[in-house]
Amino acid sequence: MAILPILETPDPRLRTISTPVEAIDDDLQRLIDDMFETMYDAPGIGLAAIQVGVPKRVLVIDLQEPEEEEGEPVKRPMVFINPHILDGSEEITVYNEGCLSVPEQFAEVERPASIRASWMDRDGRIREERIEGLLATCLQHEMDHLEGVLFIDHLSRLKREMLLKKLTKARKAA
Ligand code: NI
Repeated sequence: MAILPILETPDPRLRTISTPVEAIDDDLQRLIDDMFETMYDAPGIGLAAIQVGVPKRVLVIDLQEPEEEEGEPVKRPMVFINPHILDGSEEITVYNEGCLSVPEQFAEVERPASIRASWMDRDGRIREERIEGLLATCLQHEMDHLEGVLFIDHLSRLKREMLLKKLTKARKAA
């Protein structure tokens, strides 16, 4: 396994529309392992393949939520290959989102609170489930990456420009 470099905005590769996975082979399994290692190392709760420069419709997510208040985060790695959103709730939720490709910047984004999604897991099984809570937010955020969309694209122009200015400042200070 390997930790891969994560592309950061304004890298134009992040604007690529990713193409469907056609075969679940050893190369893909290796990519998935590397994506998990990269995500846990960052650390983050979700990563799309394009964020490590691979324009394929593959996402890894692990919310790493503590089981109980005092508990250690439990690893629950999930793989989404060729995911689709079948429908979204009218109910909207707001979450203070961040992204490994927009490091250390956060902003509130509105999205449907629950979605019905279908995808292929890493064994090639087709799954279909209604998803809600943080997983619904995270999956929608990661699926945006497959279309070349970043969470900052959901903000008003003013908010986006302010956030990008803060990012430039932080980079200069580093
Ligand atoms: Ni992201």
